Amino acid sequence: MKRRSFNRSLLALAGFTAGAGAWRPAAANTSSWAEQFQQALQDHPWLLGYRSVTQDAFAADAEVSGKWPAELRGTLYRNGPAQHEVGGFRYRHLFDGDGMVQGYFMGPEGVRHKGKMVQTYKLAAERKAGRPLYSSFASDLPDPAPVTSADAVNVANISVLPHHGKLLALWEAGSPWEIDAESLDTKGVYAFSDHTQGVPFSAHPRVEPDGTLWNFGYVSQANLLVLWHINKQGQVVKMGKVQAEAMSMVHDFVVTERHLVLMIPPLHYEPDANTGSFLAAHKWHADKPTKVLVVDKNDFDNHYWLDLPAQWVFHYGNAWEDTAGVIRFDAPRSPDPVSVIDSFSELMRGNITPGTTVHHHQYQIDTKAKRVSEAPMFGMHLESEFPVIDPRVSGKRYRRVVMLSRNHLLKQPAHVNLNEVSTMDLDSGQRRSYRYPDQQIPEEHLFVPRPGSTPESEGWVVGSALDWHKGQMLLNVFNVEAVDDGPVATARLPYALPLGLHGKFVQA
Ligand SMILES: [Fe+2]
Repeated sequence: MKRRSFNRSLLALAGFTAGAGAWRPAAANTSSWAEQFQQALQDHPWLLGYRSVTQDAFAADAEVSGKWPAELRGTLYRNGPAQHEVGGFRYRHLFDGDGMVQGYFMGPEGVRHKGKMVQTYKLAAERKAGRPLYSSFASDLPDPAPVTSADAVNVANISVLPHHGKLLALWEAGSPWEIDAESLDTKGVYAFSDHTQGVPFSAHPRVEPDGTLWNFGYVSQANLLVLWHINKQGQVVKMGKVQAEAMSMVHDFVVTERHLVLMIPPLHYEPDANTGSFLAAHKWHADKPTKVLVVDKNDFDNHYWLDLPAQWVFHYGNAWEDTAGVIRFDAPRSPDPVSVIDSFSELMRGNITPGTTVHHHQYQIDTKAKRVSEAPMFGMHLESEFPVIDPRVSGKRYRRVVMLSRNHLLKQPAHVNLNEVSTMDLDSGQRRSYRYPDQQIPEEHLFVPRPGSTPESEGWVVGSALDWHKGQMLLNVFNVEAVDDGPVATARLPYALPLGLHGKFVQA
C-alpha cells in the first residue's frame, strides 16, 4: 500500500476511534468522587498514591543514603497519570489522569529529580476553560466538547521512549509527545514521518539491542491493528495493517528475531446506543477466545491467528525463538479484566474493591505446527506485574525477569498494591525478593546493566517507591544478583507524587 493512502485512511480511523460518537453525557454528580476520595484518604492514607497533583512542576535534590554505585550514572525517566482532578471534577479511572514525565538524574554530585506535566492539547484546553472539557478513557462529562481527533484527548500518561536522540511521552491510542530530555518541557506532538501523523502508536514499543523499533497501534472502530517498523535513526522502514474480527485494548506485545506476537483478549469494542465512555463500549466475552496474532517481521502481510482461552494481559516480559521455530514468552495473566474495568475506576473514589489475581505464565508458539500453549510459572500464591528484562536481550533468549510481586502466603500489607520487587531466573526457577515495608508502595523497577558487562549478568535493579507514611518518594538501587539483601542505596525526595506507570533508563 502506498504510504499516502495508508496515512489518509488511518487518520480518519484514528480520529473516529476517539470520536464524539463513542461518548454521551452522563447524569453523574461531578463533585462527589473528589469528596469521596478525600474521605477515603483519611481512612486509608496509602491512597496518597492516587491524590491529584496541584502543580505542574517539581524539582528537588534527593537525600542519598547507602553506597550509590559509582558506575550508575544516567537518568531514569518515568511517566504516569498525575493530575486526577480538573476544576473539581475527579476522573473516573486511574488511566484518565493527565500525564507527568519525571526524571531521576543520577550524576557524580548526587541525584536530582524533576517532574513536569506533559503540556498536551487536552491539558492546555482544559486549563484555559478552567474545567474538564472532554470525556476521555472512562470518564463521562455531563456536557462534553466534541473530540475531533485522538490527539485532542491524548493524555500522554503511560510510558516514555528514549530513541534516536529524542525523548517521547507515550499514550496508547494517539501520537507520542516529544519532551526535552533535560528540562522535561513539552516540545509538541511528534510524528515519525509526514505520512504517519496521528497514526496510533502504543505505549509499549519494543526496541532491539541495535535500536530497531517495532510497535503497533489499534483502531477500535475499524477492528484494525497498525504495525510499525522504525530504524535506529527514527525513520519509518515500513508500516502494516492487520484486520481483526474484533478489537480490544491491546496494551503490549512481544517481538522475537523473526516474529511479532500480539494477543487480542475478548474484551471487545462494541459500542451501542447506550454506550457511555470508551471503556464502557467494551464488552467481556468469557466464552470467546483470546486471539493470538503471529506476524512475520519481514512481511507484515504474512500473518496468522491462533486461539487461547479468554484472558487479560497488560504486559509481557520478553520473547525469543529457538532454531526449531518455537517462540517462548512470559506474561502476568489475569482470567478476566475486572481490574481494568472496575477496580482501577472505584479506586479513584477511594473504594477498594478486589481486582483480578495476576499470575505469571509462560507461553509457547510452535510456528511450524501453528500451535500455542500456556502454563503458569511460579505458583498461584504469587502475583506479579511490570515484568522487565535487561534491554540488551530484547527479542533474544533470556533468563532473567525483574518484576513487582505479592506473595499471598505472607502477611499482607494495608495497601492493595504489589509490595515486593523480585528477580526471577527462568532457567533455574529461583526467585529472590525484597519485601517493601508496609508504609512504602513500589512502582515499576528496571534492570539497569553495569556498563560493559555481559547481558543479564552484573547490574542493578532501580526503582521508585512512595513512602506514604512520610509523604516522600524514594529511588532504590539493588544489586541485581541479590535484591533480597535490600537496597544498597536510596535517594529520598522531599515530596510525594502520584504512583505512575512505566519508565526507561538512559545511560549517561
Ligand atoms: Fe503498560
